[in-house]
Amino acid sequence: MHFLRNFPLRAFNTFGVQATAQRFATVSSEHDLLSWCASRDRDETPLLIGGGSNLLFTRDVVEAPVLQIAPRGARVVFDEGDTVLVEAMAGEPWHAFVLWTLAQGLSGLENLSLIPGFVGAAPVQNIGAYGVEISESCDSVATVDLATGNTREFSNTECAFGYRDSVFKHAEAAARDRYAIMRVRFRLSRKFTPRLDYGDIKARLERSNVTQPSASDVSRAVIAIRQSKLPDPAVIGNAGSFFKNPVVEASVANDLKARFPAMPQYAGKAGVKLAAGWLIEQTGWKGRRLHPFSEAGVHTQHALVLVNHGAATGAEIWELAEAVRADVQEMFGVALDAEPRVV
Ligand code: EPU
Repeated sequence: MHFLRNFPLRAFNTFGVQATAQRFATVSSEHDLLSWCASRDRDETPLLIGGGSNLLFTRDVVEAPVLQIAPRGARVVFDEGDTVLVEAMAGEPWHAFVLWTLAQGLSGLENLSLIPGFVGAAPVQNIGAYGVEISESCDSVATVDLATGNTREFSNTECAFGYRDSVFKHAEAAARDRYAIMRVRFRLSRKFTPRLDYGDIKARLERSNVTQPSASDVSRAVIAIRQSKLPDPAVIGNAGSFFKNPVVEASVANDLKARFPAMPQYAGKAGVKLAAGWLIEQTGWKGRRLHPFSEAGVHTQHALVLVNHGAATGAEIWELAEAVRADVQEMFGVALDAEPRVV
């Protein structure tokens, strides 16, 4: 593995903020990573990144090497009957991989179209959209354990998936960066069962006069919805939803509903999920900037997305996040947790 010194990270985070890695390397194979592990200083935990689409750098990274896990490729592992096992390498761009599965006649990931980032980061976050999470189709995750220098595979159960959560966010022994995800396997289907429970998709398909949608039709509908609501990171820096939707107890939700009858609420197993975007919009932050001349702002179309209008620093975006969070706390008594990783 070849380390670069004082490496600029602007092109490696979709917020497009400037930060420097004192040491940076791209990992293009498991073999390279294992060889590096054999010779490295074990006390040092590297910072692992993928496509940088769920990451906010508020400072330079000096204490640890930054490793971008980027091996490429995708293949069918097992194809028998209706279930097909596919494997993608961690550095495959997620959306390209979804399109590849659709081209193979496979369904299961269509609702997750157009999510930015790499395949390897998908299980960390348990990425989800339009009523589907990868926890439903992820079969297993192959990693390199940087603490031991050995490989380790996680079954779906061992991944301990939750809402935007998994074992990889807080694995054993404070080791968020302990496991470098190298490959992810998915169990997909040749028989398409549409998942249209999320209102917008049905409406979008009806508008296009699609009555018997294929998986590709659903993918196209999801792409259209995302493009209409969410800013394209290639045009305006952002990391998608900046906060998780908070989950509160039923009694708290009832109280809030009495005070704010229009508040969207979604009852689930773990409690009642609130729409952080709605909460933020009520505080008046939607479309605003940290201060009039700041380039850190809240997106005009979706209050859950913080954006970099140009030259905002990561620290400024974080300051904006704190201000938004404080106002939501004050107005609703609800705490918002950041969704991206903040360095
Ligand atoms: N809303 C507002 N104002 C806003 C934004 C949203 O009132 O400015 C309301 C909407 O009207 C709706 C509710 O909030 O009633 C939920 O909004 P939306 O359907 O846009 O979904 P979300 O809960 O804000 C989540 C995910 C998205 C995912 C969408 C669709 C999280 C944190 N975010 O957003 O994921 O695409 O659902 O499934 O769970 C991401 O994680 O980066 C991401 C974009």
